[in-house]
Amino acid sequence: MSIHFNQDSKIFEIDTNHTSYVFGINQSGGIQHLYWGNKVKSGDCNRLLVPMLRSSFDLHIENEREEYSPWGGMFYAEPGLKLSFSDGVRDLKMSYASHEIKEDSLIITLKDEHYPLEVDLVYMVKEQFDLIERNAIVRNVGKDPIMLENTSSAVWMIPDMNEYQLTYSFGYWGGETQIKKQNLSEGKMVLESRKGITSHNHNPWFAIDNGNASEESGEIWYGALAWSGNWKIVIERNTYNNLRVVGGINDFDFSWLLEGGEIFETPVFVGGFSDKGFGHMSRNMHLYERNCILPKKHANTLRKVLYNSWEATGFSVNAENQISLAQKAAQIGVELFVIDDGWFGKRNNDKAGLGDWQINKEKFPEGLTHLIKSVRDMGMEFGIWVEPEMVNPDSDLYRTHPDWVLGFSTRKGSLGRNQLVLNLAKDEVKTFILSFMTELLSEYDIKFIKWDMNRAVSEPGWNEAPLKRQKEVLVKYTKNLYEIWRTLKEKFPDVMFESCSGGGGRIDLGIMEYADQFWVSDNTDALDRLYMQEGFSTMYNPKTMVCWVTDSPNGFNKRNLSLKYRFLSSMTGALGVGGNLRKWSDESLEDASRYIAVYKQIRDMVQNGSLYRLSPPSTGNTVVQYVEDKGRGSVVFMFNQSLNFGMNKFHVRLKGLFPDVSYKVTIDEEEPFTMSGSGLMNVGLTIKYKGEYDCKLIRIVAE
Ligand code: GLA
Repeated sequence: MSIHFNQDSKIFEIDTNHTSYVFGINQSGGIQHLYWGNKVKSGDCNRLLVPMLRSSFDLHIENEREEYSPWGGMFYAEPGLKLSFSDGVRDLKMSYASHEIKEDSLIITLKDEHYPLEVDLVYMVKEQFDLIERNAIVRNVGKDPIMLENTSSAVWMIPDMNEYQLTYSFGYWGGETQIKKQNLSEGKMVLESRKGITSHNHNPWFAIDNGNASEESGEIWYGALAWSGNWKIVIERNTYNNLRVVGGINDFDFSWLLEGGEIFETPVFVGGFSDKGFGHMSRNMHLYERNCILPKKHANTLRKVLYNSWEATGFSVNAENQISLAQKAAQIGVELFVIDDGWFGKRNNDKAGLGDWQINKEKFPEGLTHLIKSVRDMGMEFGIWVEPEMVNPDSDLYRTHPDWVLGFSTRKGSLGRNQLVLNLAKDEVKTFILSFMTELLSEYDIKFIKWDMNRAVSEPGWNEAPLKRQKEVLVKYTKNLYEIWRTLKEKFPDVMFESCSGGGGRIDLGIMEYADQFWVSDNTDALDRLYMQEGFSTMYNPKTMVCWVTDSPNGFNKRNLSLKYRFLSSMTGALGVGGNLRKWSDESLEDASRYIAVYKQIRDMVQNGSLYRLSPPSTGNTVVQYVEDKGRGSVVFMFNQSLNFGMNKFHVRLKGLFPDVSYKVTIDEEEPFTMSGSGLMNVGLTIKYKGEYDCKLIRIVAE
């Protein structure tokens, strides 16, 4: 049993395998946070459950250490909950009412002292992964409606330290999920999305340490939010050195009318503690995702090597060019052939056709069945690109249903990539998407969907909704999106789904419940990708990180990189190929089939093993190591950038091996040699690079 309540001290203790999380009911009935970190006994925290009065200007500082902190009374920090009652009262006075402990869950119920309002604080303990999933359920148990204005999922309190450093993900289209660090002084740092999607800019997670944690050591408190719409994480250090992290659905341009008898359930905000650095944090998250989040059916299966036609043929897809690409793809060992944008409606460029999901007969006179059969005959599965949430004004869908898009009645909506956003909050839009997707997947032998979303949401008007409900639109949008994915996953359990939003605009734990993998970025430059892959793998499992090998020079930054560099960079995740194979020389195709064959031998380690980031890209030498589950094998990828004369050597010490086991080590195609696990982890290997952008693949197998 991982959850305990001490009736005398009024203290709750949640234990995971290596951590304790402690809070108590204070004198005023508040749920006051006391401790989070390495394992302790809850009794050690008794002396912390005290009022923290400072002055008449800071009367209840203990409220700032509350597990949820509803806004009311003398409380000024970022609240967990803020709302208006129907009589105009906006002050909340909520305190502990009851609790329920089950095997691995704890629910604390708070009640308002006057109004019929209850809030459940839910804690789901993931002992094995040292994680706690938290969310809140707001219940209107009266008759009058309540207007919710801010409903966070959780408030996380970080222990008192002299310094606080925030690690987070920052980016932009073509440069997603890069790692940033920021020292926190008194004040707030806000990470958020207002773009209707998770966004390319920030990703909904945080990690806090005292400035000294490294990849393999140091204490880190971290969390990730499972929400794919507008979200907000506020990290607030007050003048008394309390550090709170409040996160959930973004309260910006949001409100929700909660009628009598209704509930509002917030998304999950999972949090954890690692005393072994960022690497351990990532490995915990990877395991948690594989065991608790990813769609069960494919969570433990291997991701297939895919080919995607986008960079090769753009919108000009047709039966002839797709079949000839498929032949080359099959020749090099690809297992899943994916046709990208351009196969439907009048989709010859990005100006028309979105919304008209009928096969373009000019491009595919014999229909899709012919192409799919050809691909299947070549021994590959078939996948297809869709962008269901969007419409071009130049489309039959828009001409028939101009009222289906998001927008304000007196305004002309902004176009992004010549398209408008369908209002998924509307039931008829949800039904439309579900029915065309169901038809597509029922009629054709499709095993993979790449679901795209190619512009940020703007002007989120919902004219037909009652005025008081119009700001619910983007939350309903996201909930309906999840419902569509859930329904399709249930109906077509064998079909794998990839979440794409102009690259990595929709990567988060919310969509991961339905998405088997993610498109990381439209930028496929193998070196730029190393930076994004570092950030991606910090929170998300490498098996969900789709990486394509594309042409050189790269279309984005015109950088020339060897085929080996491009392959090795992509082999650190779920390998795909996206180059124009019809232009590749026979030699390149032969090399490609060799790399794909090697990938197939090592992919179980990459996709289901443990990741050690031995050296980050910012050093100019990126080294990542994957260790097979049972430590019997490992693979190391090394990439250099530029070389100063005399600086061509790099020393690397490996991780995660058995000290006493003897391993056969093969560097690229060199003669193998033998070393013990202890030797590899302590003495290490000295690698010599030749020239700029050299890279190495080291394979290690227990003898
Ligand atoms: C987005 C995706 C690309 C491709 C195009 C097609 O940009 O990220 O991979 O599918 O759309 O229009």
